[in-house]
Amino acid sequence: MIGAVLSLLWSLVAWVFTPVPLIVLAATFGVVYYLATKEYDFWPSLGVPGPRAKFPWGNEFGLPFVSSFVDFEDWIYDKHGGKKFCGYMELHKPALYVGDLDLIRAICIKDFEFFTDRRELVASEVFTEMLFVLNGKEWKRTRAVMSPTFSSSKMKNMHQLCLDNAENLSKYIQGEMKKKGEIDVKDSFGRFTMDNIASCAFGVNCNSFVDPDSEFAKNAAKLFEPPGGYGAFRFMFVLLLGISHPLVRRLPDPQDYINKFFQNAVNRTITHRETSGTSRKDYLQLLLETKDKDGNRVLSDSSIVNQAVLFFIVGYDTTATLLVFAAYCLATEPECQKAVHDEIDSVLEQHGGQLTYEAVMEMTYLDRVISETLRLYPPAIRMERQSSKDYTLPGTDITIPAGTIIQMPILKVHRDPDHYPDPMRFDPDRFLPEEKEKRHPCAYLPFGAGPRNCIAMRFALFETKVALIALLRRHRLEPTARTPPPPMPLFKKSFLLTPEGGTTFLKAVARE
Ligand code: HEM
Repeated sequence: MIGAVLSLLWSLVAWVFTPVPLIVLAATFGVVYYLATKEYDFWPSLGVPGPRAKFPWGNEFGLPFVSSFVDFEDWIYDKHGGKKFCGYMELHKPALYVGDLDLIRAICIKDFEFFTDRRELVASEVFTEMLFVLNGKEWKRTRAVMSPTFSSSKMKNMHQLCLDNAENLSKYIQGEMKKKGEIDVKDSFGRFTMDNIASCAFGVNCNSFVDPDSEFAKNAAKLFEPPGGYGAFRFMFVLLLGISHPLVRRLPDPQDYINKFFQNAVNRTITHRETSGTSRKDYLQLLLETKDKDGNRVLSDSSIVNQAVLFFIVGYDTTATLLVFAAYCLATEPECQKAVHDEIDSVLEQHGGQLTYEAVMEMTYLDRVISETLRLYPPAIRMERQSSKDYTLPGTDITIPAGTIIQMPILKVHRDPDHYPDPMRFDPDRFLPEEKEKRHPCAYLPFGAGPRNCIAMRFALFETKVALIALLRRHRLEPTARTPPPPMPLFKKSFLLTPEGGTTFLKAVARE
């Protein structure tokens, strides 16, 4: 606060004593400094512990995305009280970091009515109706409409689409082994999840195994490029001013043409299905078929387009990442892989060699392997909520005002020895029912928690299993000279957990 007052005084002095360009410069600095630092007393005044706030980044560490997301988590959780809770500054905005499992449960589940929201996030006018970014009543209404489309019975209908794409994956990997003697795991699984989301959410046959340069694949890849050039400048503005600021709204969006590509792709399919009366067993169709009691469609065309693109943005890389780490864990833990092979062989034999929906669901050891992979390598490092009303943290006299951003760690909770002894060891038996019962319900958060958790958790797990079974029933995964020993070293500047170097390489050897 003293710093802010001094900077305003400095602007005043500069205004009186210096020539015009310098005056403008000094005054601008004074105003920026004042705006950036005026909340620095926020957490100390509430009695919340945390790291010192410092100009310009807000806290001593710097901005996680320019420094390291992963190291930031260690820094705040281990050194500044984040394991329980602490306050820090995201640039000029106060954020509360909560690692205590009871508090996480209070925020995400018990007192959810205070925390139905996330911060406003959308960078493009085109996608303001996405479930992920909706808040308040609009979120509640849309989530209620969409939830039934993710039920087990509806998902069962998508089994064949997943299976076709998984068979293509297995063939592609065979081909890669013949050509190169190893597989780029991220590239292969990325093609699978791309095709699977394209067919399940957009009704499009993308076939990126054959044509990685299709219009669809090219535009999809661009969605995931980090902002550069003008995009980076716009991104900084979004962070500084918050998305609803009129200035941000007026800046042209460099990704607009990509968004429009997907908008057009979904619109074309909707028009085709409605005019020709054809349909397919996919999410697009399920969303089109959600009708109210009078038989009118509940979601507008624009909302359906928004949800389809959202599925792509949040479903493509997360699932590919899970597959990458699962394949890596199996290749580096041969005993676990042997147990998975045995289970696949015996369950498929009971189902006449057919990879049916029921056969997938019967593979309980594989399920534990995937759970343990998600524990040790959760694709999303943390989750977020924003308070919509003033809230007193249970067991304290600290009241946080409406609008406070809450960050909750996923990676750090999963690797905390107090929750998982010897946490870096890969051990699927941690997920035996009797072991799960011993743990706090919020000690496992790969899909978030409470009513705002991942709506597609079952689908994500299902497609992951289908892909792994299709691959492993004919292959054994082995490390190559390029595969690092466990635990996998991480690329630290990504919010999505990523192996160092972006991928890893494995061998897929044909089983006898
Ligand atoms: C392994 C794969 C996946 C992981 C690890 C994952 C993880 C997550 C996490 C951590 C959240 C935030 C939850 C919270 O704040 O409590 C989330 C939200 C969401 N996910 Fe997933 N996800 C995955 C796959 C998918 C897929 C395939 C889709 C769509 C087809 C999807 C759709 C969504 C949506 C729509 C939300 C927002 C829900 C809402 O705000 O109501 N996710 N996911």
